[in-house]
Amino acid sequence: MVLEAIRYKDGNLSIIDQLQLPFVERYIEVGTSEEGWRTIKKMQVRGAPAIAIVAVLSIASELQGLVTQNKLPSSAEEAEAFIIERLNYLVSSRPTAVNLSDAARKLETIVSTESQSPESTAQEVAAAFIRAAEAMLVKDLEDNKKIGENGARWISANALPTQNSKATVLTHCNTGSLATSGYGTALGVIRSLMSSDALQHAYCTETRPYNQGSRLTAFELIHDNIPATLITDSMAAALLSRPGSHVNAIIVGADRVAANGDTANKIGTYGLAVLARYHGVKFLVAAPLTTIDLATLSGDDIVIEERPSSEVTNIKGLQEDDVTGDVRLGIVRIAANGINVWNPAFDVTPSTLIDGIITEKGVAERGADGRFHLEGLFE
Ligand code: MRU
Repeated sequence: MVLEAIRYKDGNLSIIDQLQLPFVERYIEVGTSEEGWRTIKKMQVRGAPAIAIVAVLSIASELQGLVTQNKLPSSAEEAEAFIIERLNYLVSSRPTAVNLSDAARKLETIVSTESQSPESTAQEVAAAFIRAAEAMLVKDLEDNKKIGENGARWISANALPTQNSKATVLTHCNTGSLATSGYGTALGVIRSLMSSDALQHAYCTETRPYNQGSRLTAFELIHDNIPATLITDSMAAALLSRPGSHVNAIIVGADRVAANGDTANKIGTYGLAVLARYHGVKFLVAAPLTTIDLATLSGDDIVIEERPSSEVTNIKGLQEDDVTGDVRLGIVRIAANGINVWNPAFDVTPSTLIDGIITEKGVAERGADGRFHLEGLFE
């Protein structure tokens, strides 16, 4: 069975509720942009590419509903204004990942071009939007497969002691099928290593506070029968220093890569990059071009989302009743009442700690001047 975070056909969109995983596999329907905004904000769907795709498909779904009910705005200009307003609204859901604003900008251009073409109708503007949004779902999957291949090839050529050795890698957060339209970015590289029989072992971090690693990545690794071990975030240093663990590379995803290569990704990524450099382990970022933001010059300009304190003070999981042994999904408090909490969802890894940025166009490395030149990827 293929793991599908996003199901979409003919205007019907549903997503697997990632707040319930891995305990309950439940799909929820997303028929409007309001529903799309809520599922993204609550993190029922998360991961930079998945957020963008669900956002635009939620508008596609809403438009399809309006077409069916004959309730589209009456002119092409009004349809364009409606769609642009909905895109801006969805962009406000989570600020750090750039994929959503990148998708919004591209779709805005498409609907504006369509609406300005002579005698264009609201139906044609809606249809152009729906076509382009659907194409984004397909392209993301294709790009992830290429990222996987490019990353696996780079690791085999640059991170292993001998040509025939297999890679042991560590990853953080969830960057797999659940975070994308399928296959994944950093987890796609692990999948690709596995399918070319070049993977020795994968480690995944728990990824506190939201536990994307222990809940989602572990779920995907088990699903694909990938040899893997879960560690808590604080165990990474001990793992890298342990004789015999032989971690060859740390591979992470990204929410926004600035023009100079500074990378915002799940909180804890920066610490792993520092550890990798100290231990002489390759540190790689895997991301599609839709995550690279040439308009943001450096990491200093990236807005870091701060999330509710309850994600740190509480934890969700399966609870076992002491008396009956019955098990149910529940939330428990794990922090002292009244403590202040700081909960940044992401941190920024300076480009100097990154050995390669794996994209669908190839792996960018720092040049002789010590800097990334990412604009070349867009030529
Ligand atoms: O807060 P999340 O779960 O949306 O954060 C996800 C990450 O940080 C991922 O590493 C990133 O979005 C890349 S997913 C391919």
